[in-house]
Amino acid sequence: MAKNSVSFSCSNCQHSSIKWLGCCPSCNEWNSFIEEKAHFSPVLGGKKTGTSRTATGELLPLKTLHEIEFSEQKRMLSGIAEWDNVLGGGIMPGSLLILTGDPGIGKSTLLLHVAHKLANNYSVFYFSSEESLEQVKNRAMRIDSIHDSLLFSDKANIEGIIHTSQERKPDIIIIDSIQNCFFSETQTFPGTVGQLRETSFALMRLAKEHGIAVIITCHITKEGHMAGPKTLEHMVDGVFYLQGEDRWHTRILRSVKNRFGALHELGFFSMTEKGMEEVPHINQFLLSESTAAAGAVLVSCLEGSRPLLLEIQALVVQSKFGVPQRVVTGLDHKRVVLIAAILEKYLFIKFSSQDIFVKVSGGIKLTESSSDLGIALALLSSYFQQALPEKSMALAEISLTGALKPINGIETQLKEAQKFGIKKIFVAAGQKTTSTSIKAFSSVYQLLSLFDDSPDQTIEQK
Ligand SMILES: Nc1ncnc2c1ncn2[C@@H]1O[C@H](COP(=O)(O)OP(=O)(O)OP(=O)(O)O)[C@@H](O)[C@H]1O
Ligand SMILES: [Mg+2]
Repeated sequence: MAKNSVSFSCSNCQHSSIKWLGCCPSCNEWNSFIEEKAHFSPVLGGKKTGTSRTATGELLPLKTLHEIEFSEQKRMLSGIAEWDNVLGGGIMPGSLLILTGDPGIGKSTLLLHVAHKLANNYSVFYFSSEESLEQVKNRAMRIDSIHDSLLFSDKANIEGIIHTSQERKPDIIIIDSIQNCFFSETQTFPGTVGQLRETSFALMRLAKEHGIAVIITCHITKEGHMAGPKTLEHMVDGVFYLQGEDRWHTRILRSVKNRFGALHELGFFSMTEKGMEEVPHINQFLLSESTAAAGAVLVSCLEGSRPLLLEIQALVVQSKFGVPQRVVTGLDHKRVVLIAAILEKYLFIKFSSQDIFVKVSGGIKLTESSSDLGIALALLSSYFQQALPEKSMALAEISLTGALKPINGIETQLKEAQKFGIKKIFVAAGQKTTSTSIKAFSSVYQLLSLFDDSPDQTIEQK
C-alpha cells in the first residue's frame, strides 16, 4: 500500500525540508516554504515485487519500431528566413520552444512579426501575459503587423490558456512571457521555480497531446542565463537566445538547443522603428564598417553552417601604470593574453609593458582557435602602427611553440571571402586548400615580414 508523508519545499528554489522553515537556507527567500505530500510507491521506493505491475499502474503495452505509425510532419514556415533557418526549417508541430534574451532586446517584437506572417497560413493565438492589449496593438501598428486571423489575449491564467487551446485547437500558441503565467490553484507566486516547472510541464503536455506548437518567452538572469529551473531547458524542444549589440542595432537569434535542427545556427535582424528587419547579407553589413587601418584584421568563423567575416581591432599603447591593462570584448580574454605572451617570447616585443585593447565587430563572440593568427596580426599591426594589405584575412591557429597550425573546414570560409573580394588569405604552412590567393607562414617569426619597420633582422641574429 502507498504510504503518504508530509514534507516542505521552497517555492523559489525547490529546496526541501521535513519541517517548515521561515527562511530558505538555499536561496535565502522568506516565507517561501509550502507543504508537499510525498508519495512513496512500494515498487519504486520499497522492495521489488518481481512483476512489471506497479502498485497503482496498468500493465503497459510495448511496441516495436515497425508497429509505430509515423507520418512526416510538415514544418510551419513563417517566410522570415532568418527565423525559419535558426529553427531548423520552420516550427515543428507539437513542439515546445523557448525564446529568451535581455529585457527590451526585442523578443515580443520578433514574435509579433513571426505570428503575423504565420497567421497567413495557420491559426495563431498570442497570449500577452506581460503587456496589455493596447500596448500590443500599439506595437503591431508601429511594425505593421495587423492580421485579421491573429488572435490576442492578455490573460495569464495557465488553466484558461490550456482550456482555450484544447477547445479551439490553434496550430501555434505564443505565450509572452511564461514568468507572468500562473496556476490559480497553487499558492506560489508567478515566476517562481515551482510555478515555472508546473506551467512548463502543463504546456509540454498540451503541445505533445494536441499537436499544438507552443512558443514561450522567458526572462534572463543577471548572469545571462535563462531564468528558471535547469530542468526547463531539458524539458523543452528548443531554446533560442536573442542577443544584441546596440551600437549596430543588430539582433542575433541563436539556437542553443534544438531537437529539430542544427545547433548554434544564427539569424540576423536589425532593430528599427518598423520593428525587426531581416539582415540576409550579414557579411556585407559586417564588412561595410571595416577599414584597412593599423590594428584591424579580417578573420572568419563558422557559426552553425554560416561563415561570418569579422574584423578584429587591436590597440596597443605604452602602459602608463605598473600593471598593463587588457580590455577584450568579443573574444576570450585569456586567448588574447596567451597570443601576446607567445609574441613576446618569440619576437622579443615587450607586450607586457603595453596596454592592450581588443574587440570584434558586430557584437559576435569569437570562440574558434582559427582566429589566433588574426589576433596576433592585429596586435602586431597596431604595435608597428602599420596596416595590413587591403582586403586580406587571417585564418590559422597558433601553438604555444610559436608555430602556425592549419585549421579544418577552411573551404566554406574561403568561398565566402572570395564573394566579398578578399584578395589575400594568410594561413599556416601545410594548410590544404584549393584557393590560390593564399600566403602561408610556418611560425610567428615569419609574420614580421609583413611589417616594414619590424626588427626581424635582429630576431634572426638572436
Ligand atoms: N519607436 C521605436 N523606434 C525604434 N525602436 C523601438 C521603438 N519602440 C521600441 N523600440 C525598440 O523595441 C525594444 C523593445 O522591444 P520588445 O518590447 O519587443 O522587447 P522585449 O525583449 O520583448 O522586452 P521585455 O523583456 O521588456 O519583454 C526597445 O528596446 C527598443 O529598442
Ligand atoms: Mg516583451
